[in-house]
Amino acid sequence: MTENLFKDEVVANQFNDYNDVLEQVLGYNFVLSILKSTQAKKILDYGCGPGKVSLRLANQLSADIVAVDESAKMIEIAKRERKHQQIDYKIVKKDNLDFISDNSVNGAIACYVFINNQSEQRILKIMREIYRTLRPNSHFIILDTNPNTTGVPFSTFQNGEPGKFYSYGEERVEKLNLDSQEKLILHDFNWPNRMYETNLKRAGFSEITVRYPKLEDFSAEQIQQIEQEYHYKSWLNEKTQAPFILYQAIKK
Ligand SMILES: C[S@@+](CC[C@H](N)C(=O)[O-])C[C@H]1O[C@@H](n2cnc3c(N)ncnc32)[C@H](O)[C@@H]1O
Repeated sequence: MTENLFKDEVVANQFNDYNDVLEQVLGYNFVLSILKSTQAKKILDYGCGPGKVSLRLANQLSADIVAVDESAKMIEIAKRERKHQQIDYKIVKKDNLDFISDNSVNGAIACYVFINNQSEQRILKIMREIYRTLRPNSHFIILDTNPNTTGVPFSTFQNGEPGKFYSYGEERVEKLNLDSQEKLILHDFNWPNRMYETNLKRAGFSEITVRYPKLEDFSAEQIQQIEQEYHYKSWLNEKTQAPFILYQAIKK
C-alpha cells in the first residue's frame, strides 16, 4: 500500500500553504451550507489535514467538531495554527473511530481524502465507520477532485495528464500551484463515480446525490463578490468545467 504522503513534514507544510480559493468557492462553501441547513451540532471532519475546513466550520456554525487525520504532522499543524474551543483534533489509527460512539454525530465530511487512498477496501471501511458514528437522518458529504475532468488544467491545480486514460483506481500525479512558483507534487488515485456510489450504498447510505459546481453557475454579480472577497480572479477552466465532485448521502 502506498504510504500517505501527508505524513511527511514538508508535504504537510506545503499543503498548509496552498491557497485553497478554488476549493472554498466551488467546494467547501457548499459543504458549509449543507451543514448549516441541516443544523448539525456535532460534525466529524474525517481527514481534516491542517484544520482549514474545521476552523471555517467552527467559525460559522454553532457546532462541535471532531477533526481526525492519520497524519501526526497535519494534526500538529492544526493544533498549533487552528486551535478552537469547538474543535477536538485527533490522530486516527487504522481508520478506526472507536473513540466516537455509535449514532453520536449529526454531520460528517471527508474532503479530498478518498482520492488519496489506493485501497477501495479501506475506503469502504472508512465509510462504514462514518456511517456507524452518524445518527439516523444525518448527512455525509464527500468532496474530491472531479474524476470526469482529469487532465484539465485549473487555475490552482491539475490532476493527471491531459488526454491520458486512467483506469479504475490508477495512480495519478496531482500538481498543486504554490505561491512560490513551486508546485506541490502529489500522487492520488482515479476513482470514478461508481466507486463512490457502490461503496456509499455498501456502507448503508441512501439518497445519494452528486453535484459538479463550476463558476458559470454563479451570476456575474456573484462572481464579482467572490473576486472581492477572495482577492482572486485568475480563473481558468473552472469557469466552464467542474474541478470538484460533491457527494451527499444520508444515513436513514
Ligand atoms: C488533501 S488533504 C485534505 C485535508 C482537508 N480535508 C482539506 O480539505 O483541507 C488529505 C488529508 O487526508 C488525510 N488522509 C488520507 N487518507 C486517510 C485515512 N485513511 N485516514 C485518515 N486520514 C487520511 C491525509 O493525511 C491528509 O491530511
